[in-house]
Amino acid sequence: MESRMIILGCVGGVLLLTASVLVAQEAPPGQGYVGTQVCRQCHAPYYQSYIQTPHGVKEDKRTPEAKFGCESCHGPGAAHVREQGGEVPGNGLATPAGPGNASIQVLGPKSKLSVEERNAICLSCHETMTTKVALWHGSPHESRNLTCMDCHAVHGGHPKGLVKPTELETCTTCHQPVKAEIYKNSHHPIREGRMECASCHNPHGTVTDKLIAAHSINEKCYECHTEKRGPFLWEHAPVTESCMTCHTPHGSSHGRLLAAKTPFLCQSCHSNSRHPGTLYALRPEQASQGLSVFQALNNRAFYRNCLNCHSQIHGSNHPSGKSLGR
Ligand code: HEC
Ligand code: HEC
Ligand code: HEC
Ligand code: HEC
Ligand code: HEC
Ligand code: HEC
Ligand code: HEC
Ligand code: HEC
Ligand code: HEC
Ligand code: HEC
Repeated sequence: MESRMIILGCVGGVLLLTASVLVAQEAPPGQGYVGTQVCRQCHAPYYQSYIQTPHGVKEDKRTPEAKFGCESCHGPGAAHVREQGGEVPGNGLATPAGPGNASIQVLGPKSKLSVEERNAICLSCHETMTTKVALWHGSPHESRNLTCMDCHAVHGGHPKGLVKPTELETCTTCHQPVKAEIYKNSHHPIREGRMECASCHNPHGTVTDKLIAAHSINEKCYECHTEKRGPFLWEHAPVTESCMTCHTPHGSSHGRLLAAKTPFLCQSCHSNSRHPGTLYALRPEQASQGLSVFQALNNRAFYRNCLNCHSQIHGSNHPSGKSLGR
């Protein structure tokens, strides 16, 4: 059925140039398709913005252009063309203008179709064509009623068919807090263009939470920071558990994308280590002298940076690196 339509579509397109009367016998009965070249006559700008994209490549038999052209997405247009006073191949003469454009599928914001119905048009090809879009159903974006058109503009002309010139702009129209994060001192170089949101996320859906495009957050981090994978002779438990126990992914004002400043970061878990953990802790002899923590500033300075001594914070391979010091 489908391949028959493709053949008829091609034949129709060629014949249109010669004599439209001939197409009458060839046109698929009751289908009401007219082909891209007919739409083009009245919608030149939409034709231009479509034919230059991967969708307009006729030689690739998976594309809309190789199927029903514009009508692969907007539905059969014969009735619409008639209503507008246009010539429908096969009908011979133009018929008078009708009640308007009620008979064509509008897909933009004015669409009467539901979100699901519009997405289904795109998914009819894309769900099986690439693994990238395969997990759309049940994804956080689907369940929040996003349409493909919230991020993609079929007639938009931006790279990857996006609605905005860059992916960063496309995503941060909704995700404003993330935009603020990547402007902090320490950040992944997204705004410098060295990576994108999709370097870590698949916006269409993933098996992992938070749309992370890997089997876990750590697996994603290891893709680029391979030296953190180990294996280590002496592991630091929270590192293997999740990089997110100490880091934030997008940006931080604490340096090194840290979720908190050291030593506070460390002390959230190590309050009872052998040497005093707390920032203002007193040594026993200071306490017995009745000093307040403010009078014992040297103490504070000494314990200030755990990393001065515990430098192998992600794990150590040194035989005596049990305390992550070497
Ligand atoms: C004879 C001229 C003509 C032809 C041929 C034609 N259209 Fe239209 N089309 C119009 C006019 C006029 C409108 C109404 C524009 C408006 O309301 O702003 C329209 C409206 C539309 C709309 C809705 C626009 C909106 O914002 O509501 C779509 C979608 C559309 N056409 C697609 C197509 C497709 C697809 C084809 C080919 C199957 C096609 N048109 C062929 C003249 C034509
Ligand atoms: C791959 C699917 C697809 C193809 C093929 C396609 N369009 Fe569209 N078109 C859309 C979508 C989706 C919109 C909604 C606007 C947007 O966000 O891009 C749209 C918008 C439009 C509109 C504005 C009215 C509306 O629906 O919002 C017109 C008119 C239009 N297209 C005409 C055409 C014509 C003419 C062709 C062929 C030359 C064509 N389209 C091919 C998907 C498609
Ligand atoms: C008839 C099948 C078909 C339909 C319907 C269709 N597409 Fe496509 N689309 C394709 C093919 C084929 C490609 C090219 C894929 C490739 O080169 O790997 C493509 C490419 C794309 C791309 C990549 C564009 C780029 O510049 O790299 C996006 C984004 C896309 N489609 C979105 C959509 C959206 C959104 C819709 C619904 C409005 C839609 N498609 C409907 C077949 C289709
Ligand atoms: C939240 C934003 C967003 C939504 C919603 C969205 N996409 Fe995408 N899409 C993207 C981004 C960003 C890319 C580029 C990803 C990349 O570079 O890996 C992309 C890429 C694609 C591609 C190209 C994939 C490839 O293999 O290169 C296709 C096809 C596509 N999207 C189709 C769709 C369809 C169909 C829908 C609706 C079911 C949809 N998208 C919904 C953001 C979105
Ligand atoms: C280096 C990888 C990476 C990049 C690049 C990245 N993210 Fe994330 N993102 C993550 C991780 C990991 C999480 C999960 C954080 C958690 O679970 O605490 C996340 C969480 C999120 C969340 C969920 C809410 C939140 O803040 O926890 C949103 C929304 C988000 N990212 C959007 C974006 C956008 C938009 C971009 C591009 C500007 C982007 N991300 C770039 C790794 C990344
Ligand atoms: C049209 C608005 C919109 C756009 C554009 C958008 N998102 Fe979202 N995104 C949402 C909504 C709504 C949620 C659900 C928020 C929530 O649950 O708090 C969400 C959730 C997320 C989450 C968290 C998922 C989870 O499991 O909690 C991530 C990650 C994310 N988006 C990444 C992206 C990326 C990357 C882009 C760009 C490719 C993008 N978003 C574009 C609206 C959008
Ligand atoms: C696509 C590759 C990529 C992925 C995936 C990735 N990163 Fe990065 N990361 C980078 C790049 C590039 C830099 C910047 C390095 C530079 O500027 O020299 C960086 C820098 C960092 C920094 C140092 C920031 C600073 O201010 O010095 C930390 C910490 C970091 N990443 C942690 C993570 C974590 C945690 C994950 C997993 C959520 C992750 N990265 C995933 C590429 C990646
Ligand atoms: C226990 C807390 C903690 C965990 C968990 C953690 N890190 Fe770190 N990470 C740090 C600290 C502290 C620094 C700063 C080190 C410094 O400034 O010398 C750092 C620095 C970094 C840097 C930049 C400097 C460098 O060493 O390359 C990268 C990249 C990084 N971490 C990646 C990761 C990845 C990937 C994971 C998960 C596998 C992870 N971190 C888990 C505490 C942690
Ligand atoms: C999320 C909790 C958590 C955070 C945050 C954390 N650690 Fe740990 N750390 C642990 C756990 C759990 C162990 C393993 C303890 C054990 O085996 O008894 C450990 C082990 C250690 C050890 C080795 C102890 C030994 O067995 O000799 C050192 C040293 C250490 N951490 C230092 C730090 C420093 C420095 C920081 C801050 C950069 C930090 N940790 C942040 C949970 C944490
Ligand atoms: C002046 C160097 C130095 C500084 C600064 C330092 N440590 Fe240590 N830490 C050590 C040494 C040395 C050991 C013991 C090693 C051994 O006995 O094998 C140790 C042991 C530990 C242990 C494992 C033993 C225990 O008591 O459970 C933890 C956990 C630890 N430190 C956490 C921290 C934290 C958190 C900070 C910052 C608040 C910190 N260290 C600051 C040198 C330091």
